[in-house]
Amino acid sequence: MQAKSPIGVFDSGYGGLTVLKEIVKQLPEYDYIYMGDNARAPYGPRSFDTVYHYTLEAVQWFFAQGCELVILACNTASAKALRTIQQKDLPKLAPTKRVLGVIRPTTEMIGNYSKTGKVGVLGTAGTVQSESYPIEIAKFFPQVKVYQEACPMWVPLIENNEYDKPGADYFVQKHLDHLMGISAGIDTILLACTHYPLLINKIRSFVHPGITIISQGEIVAHSLVIYLEKHSELAGKISKNGQISFFTTDSITDFDSHASNFFGKPVRSQHLDLGIK
Ligand code: DGL
Repeated sequence: MQAKSPIGVFDSGYGGLTVLKEIVKQLPEYDYIYMGDNARAPYGPRSFDTVYHYTLEAVQWFFAQGCELVILACNTASAKALRTIQQKDLPKLAPTKRVLGVIRPTTEMIGNYSKTGKVGVLGTAGTVQSESYPIEIAKFFPQVKVYQEACPMWVPLIENNEYDKPGADYFVQKHLDHLMGISAGIDTILLACTHYPLLINKIRSFVHPGITIISQGEIVAHSLVIYLEKHSELAGKISKNGQISFFTTDSITDFDSHASNFFGKPVRSQHLDLGIK
C-alpha cells in the first residue's frame, strides 16, 4: 500500500501561513508541510517566467517529499504559474497528483458578498497585471464589476514588520484612496494577496465602515474541505497525525521570529536549499 503523505502548502514567504492557519482550523486531522521561498521573495514584481520557474521548483520539491496535493497559497504564484503547471507539467511529472491555487475558490464566492456589484481587488503587481481576478470573477459573476489596485509596497512593509507601525499608513491610505476614487460604489474589498490580512486593521481604518473586507484564508479552507469530500481517493492518500512541518529557503531564525505573526502560533522551521545558487 502507498505510504500516506502530508498536504504541501506553498508561498513566496510568510503570506501562505494566513491560509494554512485557516486550513488547519477546518481540517486539523491532516498533516501539512509548509514551505516559504523567503530567499527569493517577494514574487510580486517578478516576471511570469521567473515566478513560473520558482513555483515549479517548489512543486517538484513537494512531490519529492511524497505530497499528493499541493496548495499554492500565494496569489502571485496562482496567477502566474498554476495554469501552466496544471496543464503542461503535471501530466508529464505526476499525472495523479494535484496542485491547487487560491484564485479559483475566491472568485467562486466573492460576488456573493457585494450588493452593489462593485468589487475592489488589492494585490501584488503580478496578480493585478495577470488580470486573473477580473477574468475568473466574470465566469462566476458576469454582472460584477472588478476594480483592481496593485500595492507593491505592502508585502515589503509586512515582511519587514512595519505593518502595524505609523509609517505604513501612507502606503495603505494611498492605495485605498486610489481604489475608492475609481468607483465610489465599491462595497467589497478583496485582499487578493495572502500577506495582506496583517494589514486588515489599518485597511479598515481608512475605508468607510460599511465596506466589507474579505481575506481569503477561510474561503480557501472551506473550498478545500469540499474538494477533499468530492475527491475521497485523494483524501485517502493524505496522512492524518495532525502534524505540521515548516521549511524556509532563507534564515530559520528570521522565519521563526516573523512566522507567528502570520500563523498565530510559534513556528520552528527547517532550512531548505531550493535551486538557489
Ligand atoms: N503572498 C503572495 C500573494 O498572495 C505575494 C507575496 C510576494 O509578492 O511575494 O500574492
